[in-house]
Amino acid sequence: MVGWSRLWSPVGLAVLVGLRSQLRAYNLVDTGRPGARLPVGTPDEHRARSVDGTYNDLGEPRAGSAGSRFGRNVPLPRTAPENADDICEPNPRLVSRRLLTRREFRPATTLNLLAAAWIQFEVHDWFNHAPQAGNPWHIRLPDGDDWPHDPMTFARTAVDPTGPDDQPPVFASTVSHWWDGSQIYGETADYAESIRTHDGGRIALDDVGLPPAETEALLDPNGQAANFWVGLALLHSLFLREHNAIANRLASAYPAMTDQQLYDSARLVNAASMAKIHTVDWTPAIIAHPTTVAAMRGNWFGLLGERMSGRIARFTDNEILSGIPGSATADNGVPFALTEEFVAVYRMHPLLPDTVEFRSGLDDRVVARHAMADLLAADVRRHLTSNTAADLLYSFGRAHPGELSLHNFPRSLQNLARPDGTPIDLATVDIMRVRERGVPRYNDFRRALRMAPVTTFRELTVTTRPPPNWRRSTATSSRWI
Ligand code: HEM
Repeated sequence: MVGWSRLWSPVGLAVLVGLRSQLRAYNLVDTGRPGARLPVGTPDEHRARSVDGTYNDLGEPRAGSAGSRFGRNVPLPRTAPENADDICEPNPRLVSRRLLTRREFRPATTLNLLAAAWIQFEVHDWFNHAPQAGNPWHIRLPDGDDWPHDPMTFARTAVDPTGPDDQPPVFASTVSHWWDGSQIYGETADYAESIRTHDGGRIALDDVGLPPAETEALLDPNGQAANFWVGLALLHSLFLREHNAIANRLASAYPAMTDQQLYDSARLVNAASMAKIHTVDWTPAIIAHPTTVAAMRGNWFGLLGERMSGRIARFTDNEILSGIPGSATADNGVPFALTEEFVAVYRMHPLLPDTVEFRSGLDDRVVARHAMADLLAADVRRHLTSNTAADLLYSFGRAHPGELSLHNFPRSLQNLARPDGTPIDLATVDIMRVRERGVPRYNDFRRALRMAPVTTFRELTVTTRPPPNWRRSTATSSRWI
C-alpha cells in the first residue's frame, strides 16, 4: 500500500522479502519443455557447464537449455495474443516517432556507458528469440511518415511448434537461459571448440583480445553477432582474457589438472564472477535506492554480510542469512527458465547514446568523436586495433548512457541496417515484440502482479518528473494504458 521505496530501509527490505515470496508463489509459470525427457544426471557426471545448458538442473536436465521455452510471470490465459485489429493499436511506429524519438540526448548521469554495454553483454548470455520465416508483420505508416516502404515489414517471432495446442503460443530461446557465460564461450559445440587452444584450458585470442576473425564464420550472422559494437566487444575481450588468466592461475596452483579440467573450472569461476558483478555492482548502480542496494548485497552475501561470508563461508543454509549462491536448489516447483516478461523489461535500448567520445586515458583528452553507426559490428576490429583497450575502457567509463525514459530512443537504432541491408526501426520492433509475445499491457501487467491499475496518464508519469509537455502529449486516450 505504501511502496517499499518510501519506507525506512529495514522495513522496505522486509517488504521486498515478502514480495519475493509472493512473486515466487504466484508469478512463476511453467510453459513446459520441448523434446523427450533426458535421463536424470548425477553430480559426478556433470561437474562442468555444458555448451547447450543441459544438466545444470540434474533432475530436469532440459530446464533452461538452448531450445527450451521461455516461462511466464503472468498466468497463461493472460498471455493470449491480442486480435489482429488490436495488436497494431496504437500504431507502434506512431508511438516510436511521437513518444520515443530522441530530440536531445538525456543522459543517465549516475551511470557510465560501461553499464549499457554490460547489460547487453548479459542479455546475450541469457536469451535470444528466433525470427519466423515468411508471413512478416506489416505496419501501416502513419500520415506524413518518411519511412522508405509502406507498410514497414519485419519478421515475426518464431513460435515453438511443439507448444500445447490448447494454450497461447510459446516461444523458445536459441541460447541457454543459464548464467553460464555462453555469450563468450559459444552457443554451439562447433564454435565453442573452434575458439579453444586445447592447451592449458585457454581460449585462442588474437591481438585485439577476441577469438580469431575466422571463427566468426561459425556464428549466426543474423543472430546476436549482428548486434555487436565496440562497447560489447570490450566486455567480450575482457572476460575472454579473464578466462585465460583464471586458467593460468589454476594451472600453476594445480599442475596435474588437464586442459579440459582447466577449461571447465575457469568457465565456472568466470561465469560466477559475472553473476557477482551483475548482482552487487550493476543492479545497485542502475537501481541506486539504498534499499535495493542492501537487497542485492543481501541476495549475494546474505544479511550476515560480506565479511561473515568471506570468513566462514556459509554460516547457515538459509538464503536470507547467507545469500543465494551456495544455498539449496529451490525452483519453487517451476523448472528454471527466463520469462517473456523478463525479456520485455530488458529491452533497454535508450541506454545507448548516438555518439561516443574516445578519450586518452593518460590526460582525458578527447581524441575522436564517433557516431554510433560507426561503432557497429563491421567496424569493431578497426577501433580495437587503433585504440588500446585501456583507453577505450576509460572512454566508456567517462561517458554516460541514456536515461530510460520517453523521447530518448537512439536515432541510429530507429534506422538500423540489418546484415542484409534492410533497415529496421528498432523502437517499432521493440513495441511489437512485447505485444506479439503476449506480455500484458501496462494495467493488465499491474493486475497480474497484484498492483492497483492506474487510471490516468498523469499517474503514469508522476514519479519521473517529466517536462510538462510530455503529459500533454500522452493525455490523449486512456484506452491503451
Ligand atoms: C548497438 C547496440 C545494440 C544493437 C545494434 C541492438 C540491436 C538489437 C536488435 C536488432 C534486436 C532484435 C530485435 C527483434 O527483432 O526483436 C535486439 C533485441 C534485444 N536487445 Fe538490443 N541492441 C543493442 C543494444 C542493446 C542494449 C544496450 C540492451 C540492454 C539491455 C539490449 C537489449 C535487447 C533485448 C532484451 C532484446 C530482445 C532479445 C530477444 O527478443 O530475445 N540491446 N537488439
